[in-house]
Amino acid sequence: MTKRTSADVRAKHKEFLFPSLANYYAESVCLDEGNGSRVKDLDGVEYLDFFGGILTVSLGQAHPKVNARVHAQIDRLGHVSTLYPTVGIVDLAEKLASTAPGKLKKAFFCASGTEADETAVALAQMHTGNQELIALRHGYSGRSMLAMSLTAHSKYRGIPTQIAAIKHAHAPYCYRCPFGLSYPSCEVKCARDIEELIQTTTTGRIAGFLAEPIQGVGGFIDAPDGYFKIAVDIVRKYGGVFIADEVQTGFGRTGEHMWGIQHHDGVEPDIMTMAKGIANGLPLGAVLATTGVADSWTAGNISTFGGNPISTAAALAVIETIEEEKLIQNAATQGALLREGLLGLKARYPGSIGDVRGKGLMQAIEMVADEVAGDRTPAPDKVGRLFEETKKRGLLIGRGGLYNNVLRVSPALNVVREDVETAVRILDASLATFAS
Ligand SMILES: Cc1ncc(COP(=O)(O)O)c(C=O)c1O
Repeated sequence: MTKRTSADVRAKHKEFLFPSLANYYAESVCLDEGNGSRVKDLDGVEYLDFFGGILTVSLGQAHPKVNARVHAQIDRLGHVSTLYPTVGIVDLAEKLASTAPGKLKKAFFCASGTEADETAVALAQMHTGNQELIALRHGYSGRSMLAMSLTAHSKYRGIPTQIAAIKHAHAPYCYRCPFGLSYPSCEVKCARDIEELIQTTTTGRIAGFLAEPIQGVGGFIDAPDGYFKIAVDIVRKYGGVFIADEVQTGFGRTGEHMWGIQHHDGVEPDIMTMAKGIANGLPLGAVLATTGVADSWTAGNISTFGGNPISTAAALAVIETIEEEKLIQNAATQGALLREGLLGLKARYPGSIGDVRGKGLMQAIEMVADEVAGDRTPAPDKVGRLFEETKKRGLLIGRGGLYNNVLRVSPALNVVREDVETAVRILDASLATFAS
């Protein structure tokens, strides 16, 4: 077989794939193999991967335990659909129920985060008998018609919002407070404003509120303490349920807890969605709901790929490894080190770095024109530059934010101290080439 090169794959990508599938970097990286946090491209260039396929390869590439389970399962039974119960599907459902906050107990499996969010919204509507839904500006829910309507980024909406019943509340975006206020003297006005949003733009009875505990694609916008309690109390007052979208924040990503919402005291979701990190890269999404809410879905319901035996085998291996290797604690420890490193960069480049935020191994820096001069104009060009410089030095990172000016850093949960230090060193050397 002729050896494939990056140039060849880039050319074929351009010729045969939708052009809307944009790749990172001026010259895209064609990854071909990986081990743990190290990945290699087709030309043999090695990188330290600090984005993990968008927070998805939660245990690193080619994880021995996950791969062993996947190999064993695929040789035994590859697919049955949701029409047949399997050991994998019931064991995973039971395991998820044991880790979930509050009274979440029953599971529905699908193949992506988009489907999980779709299912959650339909379930909220069936349960409450109400149609209208509150989502958040800067939120991202996926690429179906409903998920695009929930999503609040114009660049991910090829067509106008199709679902009229969705209202977007202000995001808890403290660095760019929509009310020009500061926390905590703001008294979390962004959460309190949801009441007026419901009173003025809905029938006054809503199905629910869907929100990410930390807005991922939005640039790791981390709601301040108190936000979710206030918001969810208002939502319940008007008949709605709370859907926590844990697609990015789940499975220990935020450190200290299995789920991002558990950082917020006194808040229990009625429905929770998850995908990405659940199965180390195998396609799997899930919805968890309380028994009372799950029972409201009385219509038929099938998912061909949902809870596929191979994906559930991988997911069980992921959760067992998180528990056995204490990776939630590792996310907290290495996350603290990463945060300290990023804050050090903010001190060295105070003009370019406006904000450092996130929890655990979900950390971001927002780049602006000149923070020192008080000019917070988003600087996507600086992030573009940083991308090219870090690539040259062997580090892969992520990008996000409505203005495309946020750098997202999210290594595998089992990342080691030396790799965090290397990543921060590379970021520093890269920023030194252009940032002030
Ligand atoms: C918070 C959140 N919800 C839902 C989705 C959609 O997931 P998927 O791409 O698996 O459909 C994403 C994807 O990035 C996400 O970040």
